[in-house]
Amino acid sequence: MPKISQRGQIMPPSPIRKLVPYAEAAKKKGVTVYHLNIGQPDIETPQPVLDAVRNSHFKILEYSHSAGNESYRRKLTTYYSRFGIDVDYNQIIVTTGGSEAIIFGFMACLDPGDEVIVPEPFYANYNGFAVEAEVKVVPVTSGIESGFALPPIGDFEKKITPKTKAILICNPNNPTGYLYSTEELNILRDICKKHNLFLFSDEAYREFAYDGTTLSALQLEGLEDNVVVFDTISKRYSACGGRIGALVTRNKTLLDSVMKFAQARLSPPSFAQIAAEAAVDLPEDYFDGIKAEYKSRRDLLVKRLNGIPGVFCPNPGGAFYAMAKLPIDDADKFCQWLLEEFSYDQQTVMLSPGTGFYATAGLGKQEVRLAYVLNLESIDKAMTALTKALEVYPGRS
Ligand SMILES: Cc1ncc(COP(=O)(O)O)c(C=O)c1O
Repeated sequence: MPKISQRGQIMPPSPIRKLVPYAEAAKKKGVTVYHLNIGQPDIETPQPVLDAVRNSHFKILEYSHSAGNESYRRKLTTYYSRFGIDVDYNQIIVTTGGSEAIIFGFMACLDPGDEVIVPEPFYANYNGFAVEAEVKVVPVTSGIESGFALPPIGDFEKKITPKTKAILICNPNNPTGYLYSTEELNILRDICKKHNLFLFSDEAYREFAYDGTTLSALQLEGLEDNVVVFDTISKRYSACGGRIGALVTRNKTLLDSVMKFAQARLSPPSFAQIAAEAAVDLPEDYFDGIKAEYKSRRDLLVKRLNGIPGVFCPNPGGAFYAMAKLPIDDADKFCQWLLEEFSYDQQTVMLSPGTGFYATAGLGKQEVRLAYVLNLESIDKAMTALTKALEVYPGRS
């Protein structure tokens, strides 16, 4: 048999999806599994967004422009202007999900062997994208005790080498829910300026800030050639399957380069661009109800978690995730055990082991990520199952 690539061998499995076979087996046994492992919201996709696709009459399902439909990109500029972000439509390249925007950013800005500094814990798939682009993720650790605040500036500067090309943040953060303050963003701006680095900012959860607000990296002055924003409609409009994202930058040379990657993959999905364009026209109060719903889910989840003996969960300010520290020996073992061996009242909970969100080996062993994407009743039941599980887990520490 021909041998697969080295890259294919070291590509990490997604910590969010790797336990799926165990969840499927549990369901076959009649156990209800509460999926708090994945950021798949249960919120319905807004009707006008779906209707826009239903009411479109195609004769040919064509390729679109490689940068995305011009009408959509123009519409997106009005979306960004609501946040005080001033961009031109030709500074936006529509991508197949935020995932492709990240890959394009890595491919166009970094060479194999280059380094990107990322505060950890971070969105686990950054590891996979780094393997694809053959770049090295250099973590700067943020701690659960400080609620995952940005590590001190000195920690970043210590990690900068001649190979460092970029800093990558996710704001609001997946998996920690942390919201970067203006002061922290200005610190990052200064480091990027001083060391001539790209600042990648993944803003998939822009709308989901519950206790205060945060800026977009595109609002940082004097960093126009360095900032690259990765964006997506997946969470914003509960449209994960649409596969529409965007890469936004004011750096003209970079845009020209990203465009070549965009042309090589021809175009982003046609139907979903119609949906995404319609989504920009949703009434501005659309997010009020959604945010209120996520906030009450967060409040319930965090309260229930902190009520379990030995559990600590800092209050996440945004996105729809929380990282919690559990009194366990090994998060990977525990999350598998929850699905394979445990049930309470024929119910169990699926969580993502914390280890996959760190690049530093050994970190996150007592942590799990929970996505509060289920309704309040399900979250409550899931927390009861988790409470019972921690009472009987053989690896309790
Ligand atoms: C922080 C972050 N960035 C990017 C993505 C990828 O999103 P998409 O579905 O648009 O590819 C996700 C998905 O969960 C995410 O949480």
